[in-house]
Amino acid sequence: MNTVKTNAALQEARSKYIARGIGSATPCYISHGKGALLYDVEGNEYLDLGGGIAVMNVGHSHPKVVKAIKDQAEKFTHTCFMVSPYESSVKLAEKLCSAVPGDSPKAAMFANSGAEAVENAVKIARYYTQRSGIIAFDNAFHGRTLMGMTLTSKQKPYKFGMGPFAPEVYRMPFANCYRCPFNKEYPGCDLECAEHLEYFFINHVAAEQTAAVVVEPVQGEGGFICPPREYFQRLKKICEANGVLFIADEIQTGIGRTGYMFAMEYYGVEADLTTTAKSLAAGMPLSAVVGKKEIMDSVHAGGIGGTYGGNPVACQAALAVLDIFESENLLERSRELGERLRDSFLSLQKKYDLIGDVRGLGPMIAMELVKDRSTKAPAADETKALVSHCYKQGVIILSCGSYGNVLRFLMPLVITDEQLDRGLAVIDAGLAAISQ
Ligand SMILES: Cc1ncc(COP(=O)(O)O)c(C=O)c1O
Repeated sequence: MNTVKTNAALQEARSKYIARGIGSATPCYISHGKGALLYDVEGNEYLDLGGGIAVMNVGHSHPKVVKAIKDQAEKFTHTCFMVSPYESSVKLAEKLCSAVPGDSPKAAMFANSGAEAVENAVKIARYYTQRSGIIAFDNAFHGRTLMGMTLTSKQKPYKFGMGPFAPEVYRMPFANCYRCPFNKEYPGCDLECAEHLEYFFINHVAAEQTAAVVVEPVQGEGGFICPPREYFQRLKKICEANGVLFIADEIQTGIGRTGYMFAMEYYGVEADLTTTAKSLAAGMPLSAVVGKKEIMDSVHAGGIGGTYGGNPVACQAALAVLDIFESENLLERSRELGERLRDSFLSLQKKYDLIGDVRGLGPMIAMELVKDRSTKAPAADETKALVSHCYKQGVIILSCGSYGNVLRFLMPLVITDEQLDRGLAVIDAGLAAISQ
């Protein structure tokens, strides 16, 4: 390919050489980034409120991450941990084992992507329990591999035409208070959605044949659906009583995204297995399953692994990320951002009828747009128009949700107050224009 410098030229070349099935939310081609800002090949600046889908919690090109990557690349980039191991992987596993909530001794394994971590968590759960059933939830997203896609709920675009899917996956309703599948209201509902698991064992898959339930603490792609605090406690209790493992998929919620290093800390639940990826290594491909040692160690040698899992460059980047969280008090900043965003969204909700719901945990927060607050008819076109308005004003923001009508915030946690205010002003103006 010749050297091409404009977004339009790159877009044209892309349409020739990149498979159509890979979509992009924006038509700009990035040349570099810093903190919460991105710059394209034409020199345009963007405020990044999407963080490459929840990956850049420590910000773009953080000097400590850049240095860690460079230093490691100069030493060695790969040996394969399964052939010749190295310290960074062990050190990172130790840190993750203490960061994941719960007092039980833990062990970790590394892989490359979120979906791969989910695959491994399912393998480990099945091996340990010697059961095959896996329960996932409405609106769930767990990746694009065969098991990840099977566990994922939304049909188009993720599953449509891609079957048959992996067997022994069952799906039950989730705790969705804005659109309650049981037509109840919290707290009067007494969490019927959690108790439903007992019914599920009777009518869908027997508990004795169920290896695990897989949950996102706050559903990400599904629309930032954030259950009441006691929901997971109830669910976990029923799982424990039936020897069913509890897998927390913290791929989007983890690494400080919700104001906690892992969101299950907020819910007061110790998962049996936790998956993490995305912001773990600031964009280097790295994921992990961290779980109770007894469960993790049940698998025979060679039963899990992979050529690149726990790559040394990615592990050093992840160690730098964890160091940045400490040295820059990013968890505190994350909570502060969460409060600021919630206040701002609630005042926007007073101004615009379009905003039906404001929800989330910490700065993992979203607003659901509806055409009418009483019918809650999803305002998908309006959401698209708002995302497009923001882009034209130099703000990259992502939508999500089963109906594509949820505006979600996944900005780097190092965003400045001034940048955040600028982004919010653009959104405010966009909502005003669309509401007319
Ligand atoms: C909760 C959750 N699980 C799994 C995945 C899949 O991760 P990856 O795209 O790295 O395979 C994602 C990605 O969005 C996710 O949000």
